[in-house]
Amino acid sequence: MKFNCIRVLMITLATVIALTGSVLMAQEDKMILDSSKASKKKERPVVTFPHNQHIGAGLDCKACHHIYQNGKNVLDESQLGAGNPDIRCSKCHDAKLRLNLQRAFHNQCIGCHVSYQKEKKKTGPRYCGTCHIRK
Ligand code: HEC
Ligand code: HEC
Ligand code: HEC
Ligand code: HEC
Repeated sequence: MKFNCIRVLMITLATVIALTGSVLMAQEDKMILDSSKASKKKERPVVTFPHNQHIGAGLDCKACHHIYQNGKNVLDESQLGAGNPDIRCSKCHDAKLRLNLQRAFHNQCIGCHVSYQKEKKKTGPRYCGTCHIRK
């Protein structure tokens, strides 16, 4: 009886690890964000973005990924597959949009880090040199 409980627990645990693992493994752990291809200029060093650390911190995919329709985020999370070019920020945030690519990144990254800081929660970098790290 006791033995069976442990077995069930082990199998459940293994399944949970396999499932969450496969979701997390689908994305690169650390992404290098470099907008120079879209803007053809590069003033600052590229930004290393720990994607999985953000998911691990409990953030929803839709906190960052969106497709807006009538002001509502209608993104279906199953569209968030590795290598899908349509989910790249640069797909929509080009020079024509009010929020160009640089502003889109800055507003999203810095905006959230500042609000977490205000709530005195663990947060990410807020200053130029701590995101654009010179190698
Ligand atoms: C804190 C913000 C944030 C959260 C939360 C987040 N992402 Fe991302 N994700 C990004 C950014 C920024 C990129 C890079 C986009 C780009 O290069 O234009 C990205 C890229 C991706 C990519 C593209 C990877 C590739 O190389 O093709 C996938 C897939 C992805 N995210 C899936 C997810 C899923 C699934 C979740 C939820 C479990 C999630 N993301 C949560 C910000 C986030
Ligand atoms: C499918 C197109 C599309 C993609 C992909 C996209 N955006 Fe947006 N985004 C929009 C539109 C449309 C708006 C509303 C535009 C406006 O108000 O000018 C918007 C608004 C925003 C805003 C302001 C409102 C908000 O939600 O906070 C930020 C910041 C932003 N995007 C950042 C990003 C980042 C970072 C990425 C990549 C992870 C991304 N966007 C991917 C289309 C897109
Ligand atoms: C919706 C909120 C949110 C957004 C958007 C967001 N972050 Fe963060 N970031 C966090 C939180 C919360 C942490 C602390 C995570 C933890 O608990 O480990 C963090 C941590 C980090 C860290 C690691 C700090 C460290 O020393 O461990 C880096 C680097 C970072 N963020 C970069 C970025 C970049 C670049 C972007 C935009 C592409 C971004 N973040 C967007 C909330 C956010
Ligand atoms: C939270 C992280 C973060 C902070 C803080 C931050 N940036 Fe960025 N910045 C980004 C990301 C992500 C991009 C888009 C990827 C790239 O090209 O580096 C970007 C893009 C840029 C670009 C356009 C690309 C280039 O290199 O020419 C400039 C210029 C820039 N940032 C300057 C600044 C300055 C100046 C500050 C301080 C006032 C600053 N950034 C603070 C994350 C950050």
